Amino acid sequence: MTTTQPPPLPQQPDAPAPPALRAEPARLSDVPGIQRLIQYWADETGDVLPRSEGEIYGTLRDFMVVRDGDRLLAAGALHIEWKDLAEVKSMVVDPGQQGRGLGRIVVEALLEEARGLGLRTVFALTTTPAFFERLGFRQAAVSAFPRKVWNECFRCPKYTNCDEVALSIDLRPPA
Ligand SMILES: CC(C)(COP(=O)(O)OP(=O)(O)OC[C@H]1O[C@@H](n2cnc3c(N)ncnc32)[C@H](O)[C@@H]1OP(=O)(O)O)[C@@H](O)C(=O)NCCC(=O)NCCS
Repeated sequence: MTTTQPPPLPQQPDAPAPPALRAEPARLSDVPGIQRLIQYWADETGDVLPRSEGEIYGTLRDFMVVRDGDRLLAAGALHIEWKDLAEVKSMVVDPGQQGRGLGRIVVEALLEEARGLGLRTVFALTTTPAFFERLGFRQAAVSAFPRKVWNECFRCPKYTNCDEVALSIDLRPPA
């Protein structure tokens, strides 16, 4: 018995792979989106402090963002405190995009920048310590960062009732 082979399917051109999401330095045009995300989480959970657009413009070079086309998906900032110390601040992900690794992408980009700058320690004050622990941070005493306490914590309305955990990561290569 002869079998008839189905005609070969027409060759499909390779569909272009979707571009991998990556963190990039923030641009001026990102500021409204960054402010919107920070304000959303400040109102929703209080996990980040609100920032005005003016504050974000003034520290824009601290920020890395993840975009999908024109849409801002995540943002976070690395703020240098002293010659050997910086803080990760204003870490926010679009509420519909959590759990996709975007927070990791931003923090890892900030840590790479910190290493390139020669920083020794990066710390974070957060209500979400488990996220930072997954990225290699370890819990620390906030008193290890006296400049932070003197410059910002003393002015914070939650100073006497602080619900944040301090974590830090040592960026020096292992001996
Ligand atoms: C916290 C936040 C930044 C995490 O971003 P995300 O993109 O959802 O996190 P990722 O998907 O990159 O997760 C990275 C790792 O952290 C873990 N993780 C993330 N959020 C977590 C949480 N709330 N509790 C425990 N682990 C968490 C993930 O399981 C993942 O672990 P894995 O890589 O071993 O699988 C984001 O949820 C957010 O914007 N939250 C509201 C604002 C906020 O709390 N900011 C942080 C305060 S400084």
